[in-house]
Amino acid sequence: LIDDRSPIGVFDSGVGGLTVLRALRAALPERRFIYLGDTARLPYGTKSPESVARYSLQCAEALVARGIGCLVVACNTASASALGALRSRYAQIPVIGVIEPGAAAALAASRSGHVAVIGTEGTIGGGAYQRALLRLEPKVRVTSQACSLFVAMAEEGWVDGPIAEAVARRYLDPIFSAADTLDGAPYGGPYGDPDTLVLGCTHFPVLARAIRAVLPAGVTIVDSAASVAAVVAREAAMSSAAATPIGVAVPGSLRARGHVQWLATDGAQRFARVSAVFLGAALHADEIEIIDL
Ligand code: DGL
Repeated sequence: LIDDRSPIGVFDSGVGGLTVLRALRAALPERRFIYLGDTARLPYGTKSPESVARYSLQCAEALVARGIGCLVVACNTASASALGALRSRYAQIPVIGVIEPGAAAALAASRSGHVAVIGTEGTIGGGAYQRALLRLEPKVRVTSQACSLFVAMAEEGWVDGPIAEAVARRYLDPIFSAADTLDGAPYGGPYGDPDTLVLGCTHFPVLARAIRAVLPAGVTIVDSAASVAAVVAREAAMSSAAATPIGVAVPGSLRARGHVQWLATDGAQRFARVSAVFLGAALHADEIEIIDL
C-alpha cells in the first residue's frame, strides 16, 4: 500500500522518465513526487545488466532516503535488469516497473496478436518484453528491434523533422516491410506485419510524431506511461481506502509547482533545457538539485 503522506519516487537514467511522470501527475494531481534523473551515467541502454542493476539500486536508495512511499522505475532498461532486486530490497513499499503495464497495454491494443517492440539494446537484448508478453499471452508473436540512437536524439531534442524520420525509417522499415504480408491480408494477419508498436523506452514517446510518419496506417502505438500511471493510481486508491484516518494535509509550500522535487546526478542546465521537450513546460536549472550517488 502507498502511504498517503509520502511522495512517490520516480527515476530514469535521464529525462525519459518524465513521460511517465507526466502521466502520473495527470492521474494523481494531489500527489507529491520526487524525480531523479541519473544524467551522470546516461545512457543505461548500452550498459551491462549488472551495471544497470547497481545504478538502479543507488537511485532507489537516494529516493528511499528521502521518504518515498512508492517507487516507480520509469525506465525500461532499469525495469528489465533491476526490478526483482529492487522489489526484494525495498519490500516495504510498492515498486512498479514499466514493462508489465506496457506489455498488457500492447496485448489490449493488438487485434492480430503480432506485436512489435522497440527499446534500448539492454531492454531488447535481455528479452524482457518478449517474456512479459508471452507470460500474459502464450500465443503472441513478438518482433523486436533495439533503437539506441533514439535515446540520444530525444536527449538532444531532435524529435521530429527529416533527421528523426530518416532514423525512424532505418529502424522500423525492416519490421513493417510488409514482406511477409499475404495478398490482401490486413497488417498483422497471421503471417503479416505487426499491428501494434510498443515504445519500450521512456525516451521514445517524444519521437512519436516521427515514428508515426514512417509507420503503415493502422498500426497502433503503445506507450506504457498511461498504463503505469493507472497501476499506481489503483494502488493509491486502495491505500487511501485502507488508511484510517486518511492522511495529513500537505503543507502549502509542497503543493506548489505540481508537487515535484527535482534531482539529477549531473548537469542542471542541460536537464532543465531538455526536460522542456518532455514536460511541455520550462523548468529552471536552480530548481534541480544535483546529488551524488
Ligand atoms: N529511458 C530509458 C528506458 O526506458 C533508457 C535510456 C537510456 O539508454 O538510458 O529504457
